[in-house]
Amino acid sequence: MDDLQDVVRQFLEHDAELFGEEAYNRTLYERLVQHVHEKRRSPIDSSRITPERFQGTTSLRQLYESIRTCRNCPLGESRTNFVFGVGNPNADIVLVGEAPGAEEDRKGEPFVGRAGKLLNQILESVNFKREDVYICNILKCRPPNNRDPLPAEVSACEPYLHHQLDLINPKIIVALGRVAAQTLLRTKESLTRLRTRVHSYHNIPMVVTYHPAALLRNPNWKRPTWEDFKKLREMHDNLNTAG
Ligand code: URA
Repeated sequence: MDDLQDVVRQFLEHDAELFGEEAYNRTLYERLVQHVHEKRRSPIDSSRITPERFQGTTSLRQLYESIRTCRNCPLGESRTNFVFGVGNPNADIVLVGEAPGAEEDRKGEPFVGRAGKLLNQILESVNFKREDVYICNILKCRPPNNRDPLPAEVSACEPYLHHQLDLINPKIIVALGRVAAQTLLRTKESLTRLRTRVHSYHNIPMVVTYHPAALLRNPNWKRPTWEDFKKLREMHDNLNTAG
């Protein structure tokens, strides 16, 4: 990792620990790391992933191989693993979270921590297995301190999600949690409201539900989440009987 970038991050994270999240000046952080990042990028930088490098890939494996060394945003410098996605490459349903957490960063697989185990149970409660669906995140690399994705990081990473969706061609997307839903839909509408209707993302029907980590904090949300997943099961079965 770049020494200067490391120092900048540690400095700002230390401030955040001492003085709270507000002291973690995101704009400053983003500008500083971007600056350091630009400086160290040579004019012909082989780690730069251009659309030409990944948009022609025709399988998830090829796509993964073409982007796994990505350094297009500063998170590429701090990650342990690039967390691409896991599951059925022909899944009808793709579940999308916001970004990998600590456990996911360590293992290179999305939703493998406590929240992931709960997600597996929720899926099983409506007779889906983890292997039936495809699970991924908007960002493929972990943001420091699990903070929300920054707009620059979303812009850098979202084309990868689009290509994943093009290759999988699912019938339904599930946005897991407020941050994922608001980010994908470019809205500030509340999760409560977003849950009430079917949206469209990348021309695919998308539903929104609670993030499993939120259910660990507030078990009262387990029941409405289960209702959401029962509706998902119904939607899925209707699509399949319809054609
Ligand atoms: N939270 C997410 O949004 N994604 C993960 O992979 C893990 C936790």
